[in-house]
Amino acid sequence: MKILAFETSCDETGIALVEGKKSGDAFEFKVLRQALLSQAALHAPYGGVYPDLAKREHQKNLPALYKEFADDEYDAVAVTVGPGLEPALWQGIEFAERVARDKHVPLLPINHMEAHLLSSLAKPTTEHSYILENVGMSVLALLISGGHTEFVLMQEWLQYKVIGKTLDDAVGEAFDKVARMLDLPYPGGPEISKHATAAREKKLVSDIKLPRPMLHTGTCDVSFSGLKTAALYSLRDKKLSADEKAAFAAEFEEAVGDIFVQKTRQALNDTGAKTFVIGGGVAANRYLRERLEQLVLDEFPDCDFRLPHLAITGDNAVMIAQCALTRALSGKKEDGAETLRAVGNLSITKN
Ligand code: KG4
Ligand code: ZN
Repeated sequence: MKILAFETSCDETGIALVEGKKSGDAFEFKVLRQALLSQAALHAPYGGVYPDLAKREHQKNLPALYKEFADDEYDAVAVTVGPGLEPALWQGIEFAERVARDKHVPLLPINHMEAHLLSSLAKPTTEHSYILENVGMSVLALLISGGHTEFVLMQEWLQYKVIGKTLDDAVGEAFDKVARMLDLPYPGGPEISKHATAAREKKLVSDIKLPRPMLHTGTCDVSFSGLKTAALYSLRDKKLSADEKAAFAAEFEEAVGDIFVQKTRQALNDTGAKTFVIGGGVAANRYLRERLEQLVLDEFPDCDFRLPHLAITGDNAVMIAQCALTRALSGKKEDGAETLRAVGNLSITKN
């Protein structure tokens, strides 16, 4: 089965043609063609994604990128319908609707967070192929991105329950805001990571200490607004040297690491999950990956920890196609709709 997928939920315009098949219990994916255009540099002066600009860019990029796919044949078109920025989502939806109509194939609505989750469970086999297999149930997923931070439990295949979430800001947003306080460019996550790594290599330690909010609440909920405010207050009226900046970035990253280690410990103890997976843009963070890997190794050695390949942690259309294929090959029948609706706050439980 072949699916052409579109992703426009934020500041990445993505199109991908992916072939999928099921052999036994395994899902095999082959990326036949993909196009991805990041607008990050355009949004950088705003310090975050500017929705109207994202909308205009998707409108311009979609027809340009689609040219490469115009002659392709496939069984269905898939498109992200949420969560995300609605003006941006609408561009992908309207474009996908036209393509599905022209090609006389069904149009499948896809949830962006489910796509992060499922694509993170798959392992690369070659440069363009992935396999999703041997998933022990239940699956605990920590989804961390610019707009979301949640612990999701999949007790039955493709059925989700949110067992913990941020009560305020998403962790990616906190990375971006703190980077901005340090005069680092958008997107801030990779910048903080770079400076923090340098600080650790030089053994620099920050004089400023940040809080670890909600560490011992006994729930899997998290909060980042207090951490962000603490960062703001402690940097106010201070002029940091390059080394102090790097040390501060490390302190921030370590606070985030401490929070996710404790909350993951809580979630794994509460659920007894056999598989643990992380997904979303922040799952690219090297320090977080190492801390969580160490936690599982030390305290949950029987749990299968799946780390997403770095090529698919950021937003892209390959993950949207993989999600659509996994659902279709699992017999999850979507109502192939003629028209779809963007839902900015779409929950992963609405499947
Ligand atoms: O999943 P994603 O590409 O878009 C959304 O769906 O939001 O996530 C983007 C977020 C941004 O906040 C970005 O700063 C963060 O992921 N990010 C990182 C890293 N790479 C991207 N955060 C921390 N460390 C990174 N290496
Ligand atoms: Zn995302």
